[in-house]
Amino acid sequence: MIRFYLRFFYYEIISLLLFFKLRNKNYHSYQISFSHYDNLFNKLCIKYGTDKGFDKFQLTEFYGARGEKSEFCYPHIYSKFYNDLFFPVRKNIKLVFECGIGSKTRKKKFVPGASLKVWRDFFPNAKIFGADINKKLLFTSKNIKTFYVDQTDKKSIQNLWKNVDRKQFDIIVDDGLHTHSANILLFENSIKFLRQGGIYIIEDVNIQSVAKYKKYFYKKNFKFELINFNNLNYSNHFLIKITK
Ligand SMILES: C[S@@+](CC[C@H](N)C(=O)[O-])C[C@H]1O[C@@H](n2cnc3c(N)ncnc32)[C@H](O)[C@@H]1O
Repeated sequence: MIRFYLRFFYYEIISLLLFFKLRNKNYHSYQISFSHYDNLFNKLCIKYGTDKGFDKFQLTEFYGARGEKSEFCYPHIYSKFYNDLFFPVRKNIKLVFECGIGSKTRKKKFVPGASLKVWRDFFPNAKIFGADINKKLLFTSKNIKTFYVDQTDKKSIQNLWKNVDRKQFDIIVDDGLHTHSANILLFENSIKFLRQGGIYIIEDVNIQSVAKYKKYFYKKNFKFELINFNNLNYSNHFLIKITK
């Protein structure tokens, strides 16, 4: 338990430092506190087992790396954000792409393809495309197709889009390797496949590197938002939302 509280204070201090670093006259922010998290997107996350949603609001269960109930709590709490953003337009969404299919690990109970199935059920009129470096995770299912990609390799990303053979995506999500260079390489080689007005999301951005992303997107003149979920359990709990 002591480790949990140390972690808590550590992230509180980093959040505060980050707040001062990000604050300037060009940036604005607000914070939302909410009571209810039960929504369609979250129900689907629980059904398929992706950590984009959550089924325990109170910090009563902890899943340590060695199976002990001490180290950190899972999962992320993105479902409220995704539901608020996409529920009103969910029937209009036609094309969704996500990098990072997910496999079962000891630490987290990922089901391969869980988030792709969430997108598929949430957007009833959409075709869902996924990609991963792990060829064992590739699969095809109703309205879902998956492809190989190594997002650290420009050629591989270019090949991926050739194979996908679709343009004008409504939504692109990067939930793959989670390093700054891999995120930026995928972004630079994928943004042209997003339609005007489409949304590009980078998940699980580490709190320590948020300022680096801010600098990049600001310099390139993209319209972006940095979203901090204040989960207190993870350091990599930012989303970056870029609107084309
Ligand atoms: C966090 S999991 C994805 C979870 C899934 N999106 C979900 O929400 O259920 C990250 C995935 O990224 C994949 N990955 C790791 N390195 C990668 C790379 N260089 N290129 C593409 N995918 C990679 C892993 O194989 C893993 O399946």
